[in-house]
Amino acid sequence: MRHVQVVQPIAWTEAGVVMLDQRRLPTEVVHHTYTDYREVARAIADMVIRGAPAIGVAAAMGVALGVRHTRARTVEELRTEYDVIHRTLAATRPTAVDLFWALDRMKRRLETLLVESAPLERIQQELIREAQQIHAEKRAIDEAIGRLGAALLPHEGQVMTQCNAGALATGGIGTALGIIRMAVAEGRRLHVLVPETRPYLQGARLTAWELQQDGIPLTLITDNMVGHMLRTGQVHAVVTGADRVAANGDTANKIGTYSMAVLAREHGVPFYVAAPLSTLDWTIPSGEHIPIEQRRPEEVTHLAGVRIAPDVPVANPAFDVTPARLITAIVTERGIARPPYEDSLRQLAATAPAAAAPAPACAPQARQVQ
Ligand code: MRU
Repeated sequence: MRHVQVVQPIAWTEAGVVMLDQRRLPTEVVHHTYTDYREVARAIADMVIRGAPAIGVAAAMGVALGVRHTRARTVEELRTEYDVIHRTLAATRPTAVDLFWALDRMKRRLETLLVESAPLERIQQELIREAQQIHAEKRAIDEAIGRLGAALLPHEGQVMTQCNAGALATGGIGTALGIIRMAVAEGRRLHVLVPETRPYLQGARLTAWELQQDGIPLTLITDNMVGHMLRTGQVHAVVTGADRVAANGDTANKIGTYSMAVLAREHGVPFYVAAPLSTLDWTIPSGEHIPIEQRRPEEVTHLAGVRIAPDVPVANPAFDVTPARLITAIVTERGIARPPYEDSLRQLAATAPAAAAPAPACAPQARQVQ
């Protein structure tokens, strides 16, 4: 199996939370170091970091940063300050449930420590540890999803993805791109079709860049070429990530995913979703309940800061929902769910998790995956 390098979008360091600025890719590789949780919240809202699992990791690190620099001197003061930190980070992006999952997990850890009457210094250390642990688990989850999902892909052929569900979006090897990476590492001869993913161009700017760094062959297309590629038999499988999966398997992902799934079904092409179990929202029965983020009109009216449309009304929903009936399988870290998803996802969630990965001290460099 050959080695592949993956880029790291985020790292906890002594100096603060280091993030690779994804707004500047692929032309510039710029890192920022944040020492204040409010800066981390702004970085999530402004897309310095994006992708469901990665914003979960960022939110957890934001909490750890907030508690590390707290001015609270008593547990009561810390509780009040913690609520503000939690609310600020929760208000950044509404669709990806990983953000809320990570914040809830940090809060549960805090509550356990408070029950134990842990002193402030221990609370600070333990919350930093928990954020690092979440990051380490995300990496292990990606590798598990990658290994399981690779078997679904053809030994040779063309695979289409959407947006960026790669290392930049997770902090590991990626979910959808993790599957592709693992399949290629196993020796499958794959070519990846990358739709540019207007309006924010995560496909063109980020996925194309990641695959190029890996030496995985790709072809960049515009979004309106997707139907043509599927109709003319140039796609053998579609694999995308997920921002939130409802209990029935309906899946929110980057805008354009739904049309891709409809077209894949029309042309008999399997449509796979890669989703860590933390992406599952058991509180909602179906996709109708998933909040869809509406973003700024300028993302549609402008390209790289240049106006390309007159000043007219604009719609800019950042995500859409693919009904479960269009999804061939959902790949989680504990196994592959098949329809009906109400049953299969619950069964997977009830299985014992693999042994927890240790939380290493991480540096913002590329990692090796075998
Ligand atoms: O708006 P973004 O760039 O955060 O949207 C990202 C996506 O839609 C990804 O496909 C999804 O988060 C899965 S990432 C593993």
